[in-house]
Amino acid sequence: PRKFAVFGHPASHSLSPRIHAAFAAQFDQTLQYDIIDAAPEQLADALERFAAEGGVGANITVPHKVAAFELCAEVTDRARRSGAANVLTRVGDGWHGDNTDGTGLVRDLTGRRRLDLRGRHVLLLGAGGAARGVAVSMLDAGVRRITIVNRTPANADALVDTLAAPDHVGSRYWKDMRDIGDFELIINTTSAGRSGEMLDLPSSLVNTLTTAVDISYGEVSIGFLSWARAAGCRHAFDGLGMLVEQAALAYEHWHGKRPDTDEVFADLQSHSV
Ligand code: ATR
Repeated sequence: PRKFAVFGHPASHSLSPRIHAAFAAQFDQTLQYDIIDAAPEQLADALERFAAEGGVGANITVPHKVAAFELCAEVTDRARRSGAANVLTRVGDGWHGDNTDGTGLVRDLTGRRRLDLRGRHVLLLGAGGAARGVAVSMLDAGVRRITIVNRTPANADALVDTLAAPDHVGSRYWKDMRDIGDFELIINTTSAGRSGEMLDLPSSLVNTLTTAVDISYGEVSIGFLSWARAAGCRHAFDGLGMLVEQAALAYEHWHGKRPDTDEVFADLQSHSV
């Protein structure tokens, strides 16, 4: 049988096996889908071993998305522009890489949350690997402007340069955040929550229509979402919807069938923290 797996470090908490099993069940199929915990220096070997044992599809999670991208023999355009890959498919004796995270986020925002992204001004918090993918898909979805604010200003400026869309993307200093006005959409891509740190954010970023989304989910996102609710955001939600959508895009690529994400999302949300 064809084998699938998620690669991460840590990986044991991953919801991907459960999501892919639920998708397969919709088509009366069963899957072999494993969790593989590989330290960064073992990723390349672990992926080759997986392929040698019949592995044909891999989901890639933290912290491997950039390294996985660099291991690929070929990549999609959206993976190249994101500089990261979260879906690897075995083609011949190499990996084909795609990035479905950003498209997954856009599907969650526009489909599930009924948000119109066109013409919006987005505040993007963070300028790391995840921020890059999110920014690329926001531009593709037709937002008017992205303001990037990052703890280390040089990293924000580097991301602005990489995106090469000067009419649509700019950066501001974190310390000036009280002076940059309010936003219809605020996306937290920082890893602060993963290390238990709270972001220092002013409520002046928020108006009565603001949607706040953290691309993490579960406990990691609680700090940011608590701030968002206290600051008066109309909607505040985590990245569980994005997770399910990026998985559905991978599932469709591997199995040629488009799963229903709503029931899987509802089930996961009813069990989340
Ligand atoms: P990921 O792949 O999850 O994006 P990353 O590439 O390491 O991870 O990026 C982490 C991002 O979170 C960076 O933008 C980082 O800011 P710096 O560029 O200043 O390092 C941001 N970040 C991490 N901890 C943070 C904190 N406590 N406050 C604000 N930003 C933080």
